[in-house]
Amino acid sequence: MPTPTEAAGTQPSPAASSSADTPVIEFVDVEKRFGDNVVLKDLNFQVARGERVTLIGPSGSGKTTILRLVMTLEELSGGYIYIDGQPLTHEQRGGKRVPVSKKQQKALRTRIGMVFQQFNLFPNMTVLENITEAPIHVLGQTKAQAVQKAHSLLEQVGLPDKADAHPTSLSGGQQQRVAIARALAMDPEILLLDEVTSALDPEVVGDVLNILREVADTTNVTMLIVTHEMGFARDVSHKVMMFDGGRVVEEGHPEQIFTNPSHERTKKFLGAVLGH
Ligand SMILES: Nc1ncnc2c1ncn2[C@@H]1O[C@H](COP(=O)(O)OP(=O)(O)O)[C@@H](O)[C@H]1O
Ligand SMILES: [Mg+2]
Repeated sequence: MPTPTEAAGTQPSPAASSSADTPVIEFVDVEKRFGDNVVLKDLNFQVARGERVTLIGPSGSGKTTILRLVMTLEELSGGYIYIDGQPLTHEQRGGKRVPVSKKQQKALRTRIGMVFQQFNLFPNMTVLENITEAPIHVLGQTKAQAVQKAHSLLEQVGLPDKADAHPTSLSGGQQQRVAIARALAMDPEILLLDEVTSALDPEVVGDVLNILREVADTTNVTMLIVTHEMGFARDVSHKVMMFDGGRVVEEGHPEQIFTNPSHERTKKFLGAVLGH
């Protein structure tokens, strides 16, 4: 008689394909077009578990599109995206590129959280409802569980007394902190941050970045970050990828990219952003 473990070993489940060294995010020959505009072409990269990668590059270089593809907010035009080794939108079957089931997509999608430049809170819901909506309706948590977690997250982002407020009564910095709490409420494996401080008054940018630094320091969440805050990028990321025209110009350790970039395009971009 085989032991249960041996028996399970003879029929690998899909999850068995995901091991410690399976990338959490993998782009394979990704292409994205908007009409005739080819925004991403033959894009290949991997993000390891717990890795924090910052995407930099000029406006229009495709950074937001990359995050929105991972979030399944945009349709892929070609290629494949894998989350923990599992196809997110399309897979190869019998030599053909076919869509994955909605069920699989939805399951993978619950592991991913995103914070947007413009907060995107639900205006008709209170702060508490914003944070508990998905844990209750997507993860199936009880209301009590979700509410308890929401209060602890509001504490963490420095808004313990705003649970019953409506987003419109909050400042931009406060709304963005709620948006971060909302994303964290799903316990995401992957957190996507798209210029989360670009719409904020300068004096509150530091508070929001400190909350994210703490998330980086205290969790193993994999992060894909788009930011113009180069100090933050340098502190929290393991890797920086410089994009231009939907292609990776260069990538490397933040120290190398920021102090000794190899490419003229990167030097020019950083010169403009850092103001020298
Ligand atoms: N919904 C859309 N419809 C048409 N074109 C789009 C859309 N979203 C982005 N684009 C185009 O894709 C390119 C990359 O945009 P984006 O990913 O937003 O760049 P970035 O975030 O680096 O500024 C730009 O040329 C932009 O005009
Ligand atoms: Mg963008």
